[in-house]
Amino acid sequence: MKAIVLAGGKGTRLWPLSREKFSKQFIKLLPDKSLLEDTYERLIKFFKPEDILTITNKEYFYFVKSITDKFDKSMSHNTLLEPVGKNTAPAIALALKYILEKINGNPEEEVFIFPSDHLIEPQEKFIEYLNKSLSAVNSGFITTFGIKPTKPETGYGYIKAGENMGDFFKVEKFIEKPSLELAEKFLKEGNYFWNAGIFAFKISVMLEEFEKYQEEIYTLITKGSYREVLENFHKMPSISIDYAIAEKSDRVAVIPMELIWSDLGSWDSFYEVKEKDPNGNVLLGDVYAINTRNSLVFSNKRLVGTIGIEDAIIVETDDAILISKRGSGQEVKKLLEILENEG
Ligand code: GDD
Ligand code: MG
Repeated sequence: MKAIVLAGGKGTRLWPLSREKFSKQFIKLLPDKSLLEDTYERLIKFFKPEDILTITNKEYFYFVKSITDKFDKSMSHNTLLEPVGKNTAPAIALALKYILEKINGNPEEEVFIFPSDHLIEPQEKFIEYLNKSLSAVNSGFITTFGIKPTKPETGYGYIKAGENMGDFFKVEKFIEKPSLELAEKFLKEGNYFWNAGIFAFKISVMLEEFEKYQEEIYTLITKGSYREVLENFHKMPSISIDYAIAEKSDRVAVIPMELIWSDLGSWDSFYEVKEKDPNGNVLLGDVYAINTRNSLVFSNKRLVGTIGIEDAIIVETDDAILISKRGSGQEVKKLLEILENEG
């Protein structure tokens, strides 16, 4: 059994705290640690340290190493570097190649994929779900983990549960990042789950699905040695595992999970999971708030004062300040695109 931790994403929606050079998974969003460290703390309860692999890129290597070193040197050793970011499908394919070639993995071995930027609690319950998923994995399913949706969030994958197989459900449909209209429809219909971003499967099953649905990736990872795959990595199509495989495969299963789960993908979701003061505020750092309600105010360097505001998100850093209305968290991505285009 192996775990692959995906730690190469940019997490731009937490701008200005997250930057291309310092992504969401490395920021201390929890009181005393980063989400990546929290991810390892969870995994170490289920996997042996030498079975935990991380895939990231050169720029993030030292951030990752400073955390893996705290756990076990073998985890630092098993940190793979993509030459260029091509999203999660090529990253996963590369990690599978590494397991098969470099650590003589067995194609029938179970592999779990974990994002590195989530909050999941309580850990014991989470481990129970991982255990439970093994029956689906060993029946040849690509197993996903479902969360009951609470709002028409468009940043997630939606999973329509089909036939009840006892420990798990077969997946009838997987829809990655639907339009708001569709997300609202799924929420009303009720038998949909959010995809928690975790996948479990036998290596052989995932490779068969790559062969069926992502021929380019399949050819690139099976043609040469691990070193050659690295050399040719820039030729990979840029696509996430959700679009590449989960939406297409008819061998997907889902295990519904009932626990605290948050992608912390935007300042809105960050606000939602944090404990509020009696005025509904989350005030972090050096902040003085008068007559301020239901707001997130996060100061990192300078003192921030607010008077008479409501439903706001304010994030102050050294060189940039975000001021937005709560509920517009997904639009930070748009703001960044504009900023990048303006140079
Ligand atoms: N190594 C590597 N390389 N990691 C990557 C890359 C890459 O090119 N791109 C993203 N990642 C990592 C991110 O750091 C994160 O831990 C994980 O892969 C998922 O990528 P995101 O970019 O955060 O995906 P998402 O949040 O938009 O969507 C996924 O997660 C949702 C739940 O949070 C999907 O699986 C959705 O279906 C799901 O609902
Ligand atoms: Mg994410």
